[in-house]
Amino acid sequence: MRIFSGIQPTGEKHFGNYSGGFRQYAATQEEGEAFFCIVDLHSITTAYEPKELHESTLDLAAILFATGLDPDRSTVFVQSHVTAHPEAAWLLSSVASYGQLGRMIQFKEKSERQEFVSAGLFTYPVLMAGDILLYQTDLVPIGDDQKQHLELARDIAERFNHRYGETFKVPEARVPETGGRIMDLQEPERKMSTTDSQAAGKVLITDPPDTIRKKLKSAVTDSGTDVRYAPEEKPGISNLLEIMSVATGEAIPELEARYDSGGYGPFKEDVAEAVVALLDPIRTRYEELRADEPELRGLLARGAEKARETAEPTLEQMYERMGFVRP
Ligand code: AMP
Ligand code: TRP
Repeated sequence: MRIFSGIQPTGEKHFGNYSGGFRQYAATQEEGEAFFCIVDLHSITTAYEPKELHESTLDLAAILFATGLDPDRSTVFVQSHVTAHPEAAWLLSSVASYGQLGRMIQFKEKSERQEFVSAGLFTYPVLMAGDILLYQTDLVPIGDDQKQHLELARDIAERFNHRYGETFKVPEARVPETGGRIMDLQEPERKMSTTDSQAAGKVLITDPPDTIRKKLKSAVTDSGTDVRYAPEEKPGISNLLEIMSVATGEAIPELEARYDSGGYGPFKEDVAEAVVALLDPIRTRYEELRADEPELRGLLARGAEKARETAEPTLEQMYERMGFVRP
């Protein structure tokens, strides 16, 4: 089985990314041949600082290994190192529907917030479809917010197969049942987000223990005192239950039973300690890995080579089926 996922090297990665992303990457690498892509080409579609892109690409590589990706098992690489990605995106843009792209929730939300809306922000999901389809992917581990983009990738694959003959596997999404959508600690009606959440609303993977404790202590809770999972009625507490479940691996009903009548205070303290216990070793590993840049770059070079070899035959087939004269 082929597994593929991508993650943007912008900003600082948070607990939501851990839950929908990193945690699932480390788990799925055990199930087949896995590719994880640092999607730097996606990150230029909204305003960004070139220097920061450079640093955060290496930061993210270190986080991917620190959260459990094994370079001998998984292929970790940078999107711009494999030119098949932008090539595939251009070819696929001819089978992507303009109307469907305009219905992408992420495009609508992000374009509302920008003064300058780039064409790349609009075609972004086509690049993502190419990422996935080039690897003949079976399974795509993602958070809830990427489901619509994956549907689009499936539609693109089917349309291409229909028009030019069977070329692509049609991939399936894997979204975790618990923790597919971690919410902002201060505004639990909104998802925890790199760009939209204030510092107090998101726990960063690299936050030191006291910062994590402070953020969880001041997390917004709901009226009442019972620790119960009811996202509509109790968005704050329900989110904390999901966070604790992700951090400890315990099911939510078990947590409800344990904290039922103890009040919010002790529960929040335990959530904080569970998150510290999870993230502290990750941060330590991250710092070690990030300090050795030549080693990181070496791992990424190895990954890019493997990715190029794997993507190339699919790209070649695309060109041939579409009628291009090959050199
Ligand atoms: P990004 O940082 O946008 O590239 O996202 C990387 C991965 O993290 C994607 O699979 C997202 O679906 C996932 N993700 C982002 N935010 C959250 C969140 N609040 N809860 C769960 N998963 C998330
Ligand atoms: N669009 C995804 C996000 O913002 C990142 C991404 C790019 C991706 N290419 C991908 C995710 C391929 C899964 C598969 O989170």
